[in-house]
Amino acid sequence: MFFINVPLLSFVYLFGTLYDECAARTNWEATPLSIGGTSTNPSAMDMDLRLERISRSEFGFSGTFFWNIDMDDNVMVEMRILNSYSGNEADYKLTPYSIQPQKFIDYINTFYKDMLIPNLGNCTDMPRYDDGYVPPWPKATFSFTRCSLNGKGLPDILAEGFYRGEAIITALPTVAVNISVTLRIKTKMF
Ligand SMILES: *[C@@H]1O[C@H](CO)[C@@H](O)[C@H](O)[C@H]1NC(C)=O
Ligand SMILES: *[C@@H]1O[C@H](CO)[C@@H](O)[C@H](O)[C@H]1NC(C)=O
Repeated sequence: MFFINVPLLSFVYLFGTLYDECAARTNWEATPLSIGGTSTNPSAMDMDLRLERISRSEFGFSGTFFWNIDMDDNVMVEMRILNSYSGNEADYKLTPYSIQPQKFIDYINTFYKDMLIPNLGNCTDMPRYDDGYVPPWPKATFSFTRCSLNGKGLPDILAEGFYRGEAIITALPTVAVNISVTLRIKTKMF
């Protein structure tokens, strides 16, 4: 469980912001620097995401995610968590938190239902499966309005530097999507 949940929660966190109650117990604070994505086939899957400052110390993200493929065993998801002390592109290295490609459909009843949706709450109209996934997954444009996440379950201690999370969703040969979030971690001064 540790090896699965820590990277997934890290990725959830990379989308989000830090609430004060959470900030109080960690030795670090995070500033999101960018969010974005690329699609090899925007008519199959596409997104338009941007960071938004909610208050002096709080960030969120808004935008849309367009899903226009069937959810079947061919749809895979992979999470890559990289870090770089300097922030230079060439210095980003994969961390052990990264996970191998797995079937997206297997995520719906685990990570998606138990962590992603509870963290996002009501800022999105992505489908909810509180009692378990019932196919079909809708083809739709999902929207996000000032989403911020609580980051529960993340390490109390993180090394300073730049972190990047990449979620790579593929349904080959039709489409490959890469959603990327970069943030900076600084040690808090007490
Ligand atoms: C989300 O919306 C539901 C139904 O409208 C409501 O019961 C729930 O309290 C809301 N949750 C949050 C975190 O605002
Ligand atoms: C995903 O996008 C990021 C940011 O553009 C890029 O640095 C990274 O190489 C991409 N990853 C893959 C697997 O395409």
